Amino acid sequence: MSYNGLLSHYQSLLDLPSHTRPVSLLEGNTPLIKADNLSRHLGGGFELFIKYEGLNPTGSFKDRGMTAAVSEALGRGATTVICASTGNTAASAAAYAARAGLKSIVLIPQGKVAVGKLAGAVAYGAQVIQIDGSFDDALSMVVQITDKHPICLVNSINPYRIEGQKTAAFEICDVLGNAPDWLCLPVGNAGNITAYWAGFKQYHEIKSTGLPQILGVQAAGAAPLVLGHPVEKPETVATAIRIGKPARGEQALQAAEESKGRIIAVSDDEILSMQKLLATLEGIWVEPASATGLAGLTHEIESGKLKMSGKRVVAVCTGHGMKDPEIITKDMAKPIIVQPKLEVLEDVILG
Ligand code: F0G
Repeated sequence: MSYNGLLSHYQSLLDLPSHTRPVSLLEGNTPLIKADNLSRHLGGGFELFIKYEGLNPTGSFKDRGMTAAVSEALGRGATTVICASTGNTAASAAAYAARAGLKSIVLIPQGKVAVGKLAGAVAYGAQVIQIDGSFDDALSMVVQITDKHPICLVNSINPYRIEGQKTAAFEICDVLGNAPDWLCLPVGNAGNITAYWAGFKQYHEIKSTGLPQILGVQAAGAAPLVLGHPVEKPETVATAIRIGKPARGEQALQAAEESKGRIIAVSDDEILSMQKLLATLEGIWVEPASATGLAGLTHEIESGKLKMSGKRVVAVCTGHGMKDPEIITKDMAKPIIVQPKLEVLEDVILG
């Protein structure tokens, strides 16, 4: 059966207006990769799967929500979309807007957007505006401007973004035959955790697939949901989730509570070491934010707070490593240079 993208595949399960005109890059349908090496490294005895969302068309899970939001905007007759972004939403909005023939405007926090994301937004033709402030400032500005002018907001405040993103939960259940015991994922503006929980609940109602416990993970320097108050100056190496006032914070807390899960924070060191482990043990290179869910899982297992024995766990890895190459290249040892002679190469390799 040919695959025509999320909106067509899960049409009957998505609450989208009839005017919606599908704009797709064949997003979704991402692999659920068994990670036995990493599971063994964490003590073993449980099944671990990576939902590799970095394999979406623009390199992050945002494409799931963006196909829905831009399709609705196009059908409604919008001519321009706008978003605030730490980078991935910007690239995704720009790509789908380009395909739909719409203008896109993206507001990003100055100097804190990974190069692969900024390059994407520029390549897809967005008008890129840097705000001398944080993501939270940028989000407040796009909300204000879309209140005043006929420009369509495609941040995850837009309900169609959630509709699109909940398909990741459907896919996981379709592949596994039911919901996992635990789902762990990074939390920034909290749209994705909201969408997963909505998706699992919906599938459970119609297909009795069960419900996972949800472990949402923030970076310690940007952990408003763990601290219980907004963070004025969020700071973390995981720039994608450098957010101090999550738009869907309440819903994230609700998802954690209803699912009998929790939201925790991990340090930048824990995030970076998980990024490295995942790449070197499993061949899966993700951007720092995307390793945060797994870093949280590790934190809970190692501190004895979670026993995973016999469980099935899915970790959502939200964006590709190539989005943020600098995080690797800035500290890497320079490759050695050798003359193009076999003896020299043999010397280097065989000693
Ligand atoms: N992982 C990555 C790679 C992200 O880009 C984001 C959010 C998240 C996790 C967190 O998801 O916000 O739904 O809780 N990025 C947004 C952006 C903020 O602008 O690209 P969330």
